[in-house]
Amino acid sequence: MYKNISIEDVAGKLVEQLKNGAFLTVKSQDKVNTMTIAWGTVGYIWQKYIFIALVRQSRYTFELIERATSFTVSLPLKGQLKEALSFCGTKSGREVDKFDKCGLSLLPAEKVDTPVIDGCDLYLECQIIYKLPM
Ligand SMILES: Cc1cc2nc3c(=O)[nH]c(=O)nc-3n(C[C@H](O)[C@H](O)[C@H](O)COP(=O)(O)O)c2cc1C
Repeated sequence: MYKNISIEDVAGKLVEQLKNGAFLTVKSQDKVNTMTIAWGTVGYIWQKYIFIALVRQSRYTFELIERATSFTVSLPLKGQLKEALSFCGTKSGREVDKFDKCGLSLLPAEKVDTPVIDGCDLYLECQIIYKLPM
């Protein structure tokens, strides 16, 4: 059970945590992967709250997100999951199952088909509405 909160109330915490890393999780058909992100921005465009993630083309995540309709961002705000953030930011899902290696469990999200990472404090459930080459 999640508590829905307004993005304005948590934007500061979100950006603060991005500096230390967050999990961007993506699902395409039967494949799920997560990677650490630190680049991101929150805003308001087209009368919608927007989270812009920047994913390099070389990432396995990029391959999946190209075919996906949503992604999630899971933020551990209390300093937990540091080793997992480091692992998921240096190893590719092409070579390893990061969930298995890091002991990460997935939980269903509420509004999108992509799961979130258990044990985090703040989750963004993002519907993909626009993509741009970086
Ligand atoms: C702290 C940290 C932040 C990172 N932020 C980003 C990011 O915002 N965008 C990106 O493309 N890669 C970022 N990376 C690199 C990816 O997480 C890394 O290349 C990862 O292994 C990609 O996994 P994948 O191939 O399974 O998608 C970051 C790495 C670390 C350690």
